[in-house]
Amino acid sequence: MSRIAVFGAGYVGLVTGACFAELGHEVVVRDVIPERIDQLRAGDVPIYEPGLDELLRRNAERLTYTLDVAEAVAGAEFLYVAVGTPPTYSGDADLSAVWTVVDELAALEGPAVLVMKSTVPVGTGARVRHRLDEHGLERVGYASNPEFTAEGTAIRDFQHPDRIVIGSFEAADGDAVEELHRGIEAPIVRSDVASAEMIKLAANAALMTRISFINEIANVCEATGADVVRVAEGVGLDRRIGSSFLRAGIGYGGSCFPKDSLALKQLAANSGYHFQLLNAVIEVNELQKRRVIGKLQQRLGSLRGKTVTLLGLAFKPNTDDVREAPSLVLAGRLVAEGATVRAWDPVADGAAALPRATICADPLEALDGADAAVLVTEWPQLAQLDWREAAGRMRTAVLIDGRNMLDPAELRAAGFTYDGIGRAAAT
Ligand SMILES: NC(=O)c1ccc[n+]([C@@H]2O[C@H](COP(=O)([O-])OP(=O)(O)OC[C@H]3O[C@@H](n4cnc5c(N)ncnc54)[C@H](O)[C@@H]3O)[C@@H](O)[C@H]2O)c1
Repeated sequence: MSRIAVFGAGYVGLVTGACFAELGHEVVVRDVIPERIDQLRAGDVPIYEPGLDELLRRNAERLTYTLDVAEAVAGAEFLYVAVGTPPTYSGDADLSAVWTVVDELAALEGPAVLVMKSTVPVGTGARVRHRLDEHGLERVGYASNPEFTAEGTAIRDFQHPDRIVIGSFEAADGDAVEELHRGIEAPIVRSDVASAEMIKLAANAALMTRISFINEIANVCEATGADVVRVAEGVGLDRRIGSSFLRAGIGYGGSCFPKDSLALKQLAANSGYHFQLLNAVIEVNELQKRRVIGKLQQRLGSLRGKTVTLLGLAFKPNTDDVREAPSLVLAGRLVAEGATVRAWDPVADGAAALPRATICADPLEALDGADAAVLVTEWPQLAQLDWREAAGRMRTAVLIDGRNMLDPAELRAAGFTYDGIGRAAAT
């Protein structure tokens, strides 16, 4: 069993730490936010990820938390980097937290392998290798082990991944990282570091492309009277295509897709290549979020003075993550149009995300007196909602189902004027 230091106690760092501890490794998680470390030491989990609290509790004896780099790296054989890599103004990934970690490793005494889990532009590994050498840390190996888990299902995804990708400069470093994953059944893809970095960016780009593709098909469905839900079903059953990521909606968000698409676009541009398809994918997604405003205007006319309820704020269900969530763009556009925004989400911190909205603890309460509602996040609670009562509480029962979650016929029977995404008005 190995000793692993994980840098970053966020969504990826905590899941990685908990899952490695579950495999029997000794894990120390390091972060720079004192409250985060205090919370973890007290047995509280600073983020919402299903099953994470239980996993951390079960493996508490193999997990420690610290603010202190020296304590984190003492005796560590693996240094997992899971810090944030948000976009900069130029669209390039901001690697400052990664560089901070690399520079802090001067305190390291023994040999170790630095493993990059954060999503980084191609070429980052080579630059980190160079910087380690400059610090006299030639004895520290380097591997890229990108993360493919999705928030909401992160633990299952880590424990039962579709594949484990390991890129290294030296085969021995890759072998060590492979050995660390013993106990997880999955195909292992070994490659050079640049290819491992690109696999992560390309996989995300492929998923985003499918989302923007089906959203454009949805928009054409709306214009022609077809129903994208049936269309996606019929298309997705083709084994060459498959059904995942073929659900039309109001666009992707989250902490990964938007920033990683910008980073790949920028990476290509910096290398002199115009990534035309990815540019279109990004543009389609931006327009898709805004199309909801047009749908509301079709039903309500001017939005000035109207009240619109956003049902769900997180970028998808089973997470409290609102980074780049479509709800933020929608709320901003609604306020700009002169509307009042009410909102509900079961776990996201609505008051922090939307300071100008009225946040309600209950979806029915959020619908009180509203002129329209937008289903933004497909939380299961919304499938169970008493929509007849909801219609009665609203000033006008208009619903834009931004995720095609509900049955149009049932909603219409409950008294709603219902619009989905890519569904003909009568379906
Ligand atoms: N969230 C996801 O679902 C997901 C999936 C795949 C890949 N990724 C990638 O993984 C990386 C981390 O994402 P995340 O969502 O966990 O980010 P996050 O913002 O939730 O967590 C990052 C953590 O790193 C900490 N940190 C910053 N500087 C540090 C330092 N010098 N030492 C130690 N900790 C430091 C921050 O305080 C924060 O707690 C990103 O590159 C992201 O693109 C994320």
